[in-house]
Amino acid sequence: VVTGGTDGIGAATARRLVAEGADVVVVGRSRAKADALRAAAVPGPGRLRAVVADLSEMATVRRVVGDLAGMVDRVDLLVQAVGILIARTEHTTEGIEKDFAVGYLARFVLLEEAAARGLLHPGTRLLTVAASSRSVPRYAQMEFSDLAEVERRVGMRSHGQAQLANDLLTAQAARRYGITAIGYGPGSVDTSIRREVPALLRAAIKPFFARTTRTPDAVAVQVVDILADPAIPPGATVFHDKRGPFPTAAFVADPARQADLLAVSLALGARTARPDGRAG
Ligand SMILES: NC(=O)c1ccc[n+]([C@@H]2O[C@H](COP(=O)([O-])OP(=O)(O)OC[C@H]3O[C@@H](n4cnc5c(N)ncnc54)[C@H](OP(=O)(O)O)[C@@H]3O)[C@@H](O)[C@H]2O)c1
Repeated sequence: VVTGGTDGIGAATARRLVAEGADVVVVGRSRAKADALRAAAVPGPGRLRAVVADLSEMATVRRVVGDLAGMVDRVDLLVQAVGILIARTEHTTEGIEKDFAVGYLARFVLLEEAAARGLLHPGTRLLTVAASSRSVPRYAQMEFSDLAEVERRVGMRSHGQAQLANDLLTAQAARRYGITAIGYGPGSVDTSIRREVPALLRAAIKPFFARTTRTPDAVAVQVVDILADPAIPPGATVFHDKRGPFPTAAFVADPARQADLLAVSLALGARTARPDGRAG
């Protein structure tokens, strides 16, 4: 299953997995992109199916997992690549800041729901695409101990907290879900994620990353190699960037910080569920 599988890193990963013979379900927002991806899939032993849904709504995320449960018995590989980059302030109809909702909370709710429905198993490998790095730079260090403060973060600050939250979730995912958890920081990748950033600003920052920017296809080769790496044992927690594996950053390894994020995530998740605890 590849979330954010209709464009960018997710789509390239889905294409490569299908070419390698996997039975892939992509989850993305655009029906047209999903259809184009299916039409272009390399004929071979693999299969590509799509679930089209807006993952900014957690009620929809839960419905999507219900759809997945009707399509597959279990999920062996879960690549979480859904995400956006919006510099403005926008909230979903469920009242969650949109960048955080799409780029982090949807991934968390999807994992929780997949675990509850028995789709995850000890052989499942989760690979989460985020800004994972060997140490968390000072400007990106944020706390999750105060829900109100988490909710006050908007714009690029919220994008940053979504990236950090993904790493804090990866660091506890093996324990919480009984799976293998891989946090992957691709570095700069030439996708359309900056489509909502003003064109002038986009043009201004492009030269800074030009030399190190990779194509989504190049990133997908590495992602699939990591997913298939026999040296990663079941139940392991691994962080990886384009240079290779690295130990969990000290800021991310802190169990108290991980617990704070979990509490915040459960509280936000509960707010978006019906009173009976079922999908809205
Ligand atoms: N690109 C980079 O340089 C870079 C670097 C580090 C980390 N990352 C992270 O990697 C992830 C993937 O980035 P990317 O560059 O591949 O982005 P991208 O090309 O824009 O792809 C994003 C994917 O997420 C889907 N998506 C966005 N909003 C959605 C929604 N509301 N509901 C359902 N699906 C939605 C998109 O679906 P549609 O296309 O169908 O709308 C698309 O499949 C992001 O989380 C990003 O923060 C990227």
